[in-house]
Amino acid sequence: MLKFFNRVTLLGFVGVLAAMVYAHFVAGEAVARAVGWTVYVLAGVLTLGASLGLVAWGWSVVERVRAARAARRQAEVEASLRMRKLEAEAARAEAEALRARREAQVYAITAPADHQVFISDAGSGASWRPAHLDARAYANGLPVPPTPLELATWDRWHSVRTGHPATPATEAAPSLQTAWPERVRLLDLLPDAPSLHEITLGITLDEQNRQIPVVAPLQRLVHIGVGGSSGWGKSVFLQAIAFQLAVAPEAVELALIDSELTTFDVFSSAPCLRYPVAAEERDALAIIHDLAGEMRRRRDLFTALSPMPPNLAAYNRRAEEPLPYIVLMIDESTALLEERAIEKSLRQIVLKARKFGLFAVLGGQDWKASTLSTTIRNQFSTRVQFKALDEQQSRVLLRRPDAAYINRPGRGFAVIPGRDVVEIQAPFISSKTILRALEVTRRRKGEKSPRPIPPPPPSRSPE
Ligand SMILES: Nc1ncnc2c1ncn2[C@@H]1O[C@H](COP(=O)(O)OP(=O)(O)O)[C@@H](O)[C@H]1O
Ligand SMILES: [Mg+2]
Repeated sequence: MLKFFNRVTLLGFVGVLAAMVYAHFVAGEAVARAVGWTVYVLAGVLTLGASLGLVAWGWSVVERVRAARAARRQAEVEASLRMRKLEAEAARAEAEALRARREAQVYAITAPADHQVFISDAGSGASWRPAHLDARAYANGLPVPPTPLELATWDRWHSVRTGHPATPATEAAPSLQTAWPERVRLLDLLPDAPSLHEITLGITLDEQNRQIPVVAPLQRLVHIGVGGSSGWGKSVFLQAIAFQLAVAPEAVELALIDSELTTFDVFSSAPCLRYPVAAEERDALAIIHDLAGEMRRRRDLFTALSPMPPNLAAYNRRAEEPLPYIVLMIDESTALLEERAIEKSLRQIVLKARKFGLFAVLGGQDWKASTLSTTIRNQFSTRVQFKALDEQQSRVLLRRPDAAYINRPGRGFAVIPGRDVVEIQAPFISSKTILRALEVTRRRKGEKSPRPIPPPPPSRSPE
């Protein structure tokens, strides 16, 4: 179209030029005028044609720019759609992988309803903890809602609890841990409401190799002897026991003796201390002597009730003023027992005081080293032996050689009244946790200062 107009315009101009030349040199005046008019008309027509050609060209340029822009926009939209699809696919794959990972960890728990079970978190921060079965479906420690499989598993639980159709027999294995842990945290083992009726000594493995807690009431444990070579867990065990006594809601008083002040120092602010934590031998003697006196006072109180109550719980049920349990705990006690006066008073206590709610928990490296302590050793109803130097040392508390072959701190053997020797992993608790928990206990029970350590007895005791 454009070319046609251009050609017509060009031919027009050439024609006009030729006509003008002919009119000027060859034709007469009339012809020249006629040519003049013709030229005017033709010039007008040609100018119009040229203008139309220019307009058409401009239009085509605009059209081309518009088409290019539309194509670019279309390409952009398509690229963004492709990207969005890829992203959606990646998100779907990730969600699928997460679901598969979580579902691989779902177990159907086949313990009886209302029993406590132990559940292990997967992953690097793995720990194990008690969980009650009436808690919500456990989402494997992830901060996301349970998957359909988890919910279905939980639903099946509910059907068991509510007596509806029994669970199909195709359940996965129970989720209990089936191996010795390197470390169990005391706080993970303690019941929601700790009590003197449930003192936790550690965990053991049952016949199916599943971890179960070893628990007994204080009244059954009575005097506890703790043995083991240096560095294998005696002091941590004593701390774990002292901690449970300190946070129990029942009335209990602790008398803590620790020549190095490394074990019981953290209990200095416990509201249940009967005396300040003692480190000096003369303070230890004074405390033990004072406790022997308390035992005699209690004996008189018990005899005043007829018939004489068989234990402190029975006394407290009948007496007007209940008495607290008193637990004397001594770390590194075998060295102290070399001191005759201490051994003598302590012997009185372990022989006669259990009935009056006065118990001793004694830690020592080598009970055989102190021949004087044989009577005391024989009075331990509960014995806990950590790693022993050799078979002979192992036999002293345990009466068997096994503790010589322990290879892990906190692993030990426990003899508890009424059950066989049991291998345990003792619970671990850090000083920081003890301090923090005691702070809470202090707020709950109120501040209470211990009585001052009494003066030491005269060197020749009347006992
Ligand atoms: N129950 C336990 N679980 C895990 N590790 C423990 C346990 N008890 C002790 N340990 C480790 O062994 C170290 C020594 O323990 P400790 O009780 O001080 O030994 P002991 O008093 O027999 O010399 C602790 O610092 C801790 O690292
Ligand atoms: Mg120690």
